[in-house]
Amino acid sequence: MAAPEAHFAERYGPWGVVAGASEGLGLAFAEALARRGVNLMLIARRAAVLNDAAQSLEDRFGIEAESHVLDLASPDAAARCQAAAGPREVGLVVYNAAYSVIGPFLDHPVESRLKEIDLNCRGPLCFAHSFGEGMTKRGRGGMVLLSSLAGFQGSALIANYAATKAYNLVLGEGLWDEFRDHGVDVLVCCAGATRTPNYERSTPRDRESSLVPVQAPEMVAEEALTALGRRAVLVPGRANRIASFVIRRLLSRRRATLLMGRNTRRLYGGAARR
Ligand SMILES: NC(=O)c1ccc[n+]([C@@H]2O[C@H](COP(=O)([O-])OP(=O)(O)OC[C@H]3O[C@@H](n4cnc5c(N)ncnc54)[C@H](OP(=O)(O)O)[C@@H]3O)[C@@H](O)[C@H]2O)c1
Repeated sequence: MAAPEAHFAERYGPWGVVAGASEGLGLAFAEALARRGVNLMLIARRAAVLNDAAQSLEDRFGIEAESHVLDLASPDAAARCQAAAGPREVGLVVYNAAYSVIGPFLDHPVESRLKEIDLNCRGPLCFAHSFGEGMTKRGRGGMVLLSSLAGFQGSALIANYAATKAYNLVLGEGLWDEFRDHGVDVLVCCAGATRTPNYERSTPRDRESSLVPVQAPEMVAEEALTALGRRAVLVPGRANRIASFVIRRLLSRRRATLLMGRNTRRLYGGAARR
């Protein structure tokens, strides 16, 4: 059930967790939640950046914001976050952080691919399991999992990353159906190119597509929180929705995979890492 902005904190508060919150999309989600009156537990690895973000949110929005320095790729990250939450009611989890190694599959050690799975798959799985329990018992709450347009089909140079994003998509869809009977809303946000610091570091400006504009993180976060409780899956941005319609509905899966691979090679031909 969607919550109008004024009632957002009643439905998804009083506390929210943003996993991967210090910059980019994660910070945009944190700001959008703070604006809606949700107190925040912010998670990332860099203490100074995270502390600044928490302080700024408290000053601007009058909420409580705590920073928790944690490596979300570690196996006990969700348990440690749950322990840090203690008796607080966490009504919303946004699992945002992801790791991606761009380049030919065999050029990178398997350990880096396993780290993609730890952060991008094990992380959201454990957070959904850990915080889902309290939410379903209380009969209210929400979860946002970050997927990507890359999660709709395979793609050369990001084969494993794309597979981790497909995992988030399918996990989130299933939980959307399972948890809605318990009053908990789940949304999978399949973002397209979004101008985050991570994106800027990895993507050469002169190779960006002029057909699909790169979105601002604030737009993606706003669209996602508005869609929470209204649908299971969101592709934010009109141009991304058109692109995903063409790729998913008009092209065969084989053609879609080849097209994505061609586009990824054009963007990252020199093999970057982020
Ligand atoms: N940007 C895009 O174009 C795009 C497109 C499609 C989908 N997405 C998805 O959107 C999400 C965010 O995108 P983004 O990569 O651009 O990231 P972002 O939101 O700009 O930043 C990643 C955040 O996660 C934190 N983080 C990264 N690794 C972490 C770890 N091991 N433990 C704790 N915190 C960690 C970072 O802080 P610290 O470095 O301080 O830890 C940072 O706050 C990802 O799930 C991604 O797959 C992004």
